[in-house]
Amino acid sequence: MSSPVVLISEEEIQTRVRDLAAQISSDYADADDLVLVGVLKGAFILLADLSRQLTIPRTIEFIAVSSYGSGSRSSGAVRLVMDVRGNIEGKHVLIVEDIVDTGHTLKYLIGLFESHRAASVKTCALVRKAERAEVDVEVDYLGFDIGDEWVVGYGLDYAEQNRTLPYIGVVTPDDD
Ligand code: PRP
Repeated sequence: MSSPVVLISEEEIQTRVRDLAAQISSDYADADDLVLVGVLKGAFILLADLSRQLTIPRTIEFIAVSSYGSGSRSSGAVRLVMDVRGNIEGKHVLIVEDIVDTGHTLKYLIGLFESHRAASVKTCALVRKAERAEVDVEVDYLGFDIGDEWVVGYGLDYAEQNRTLPYIGVVTPDDD
């Protein structure tokens, strides 16, 4: 893998996350039961930064899913690996993702929380690869649209490397 080349700087991310937190705090000002659900592993940094900048009551949950398929190709089928711990019935759920690629994961999660009778289900993602979309899925709070490049940092990995970079960088995977 090549060294990461900065695509979105730390300052740009921090500014955007602050703006998203302000928007979310305003939109949920009247909701006292907002649950932020971070999708492991990639969302852990966005969830930490975003949740600490909200000015409204909120609780935190995590969920883990995995896509069937090998390597970077998703088959579109999503498997629940770890469910949230708390009961989300009647609560306002905000799903927090690092990246929306094909959209299958987010679509699955929206359906899951709707079937658990959440009061509402909305979505937040730091980046989206719009040209890779395979399903129509709404991202209510989006950080950045990016091209079809392999990105790392701010939670995103390549073979588990570079998740903790403070910026989003582009890498070129090795041919193997
Ligand atoms: C990434 C990301 C999303 C999913 C998006 O997770 O965090 O959950 O892929 O892809 P999709 O839109 O094509 O469904 P990944 O499987 O890389 O796991 P990780 O977060 O543990 O790295």
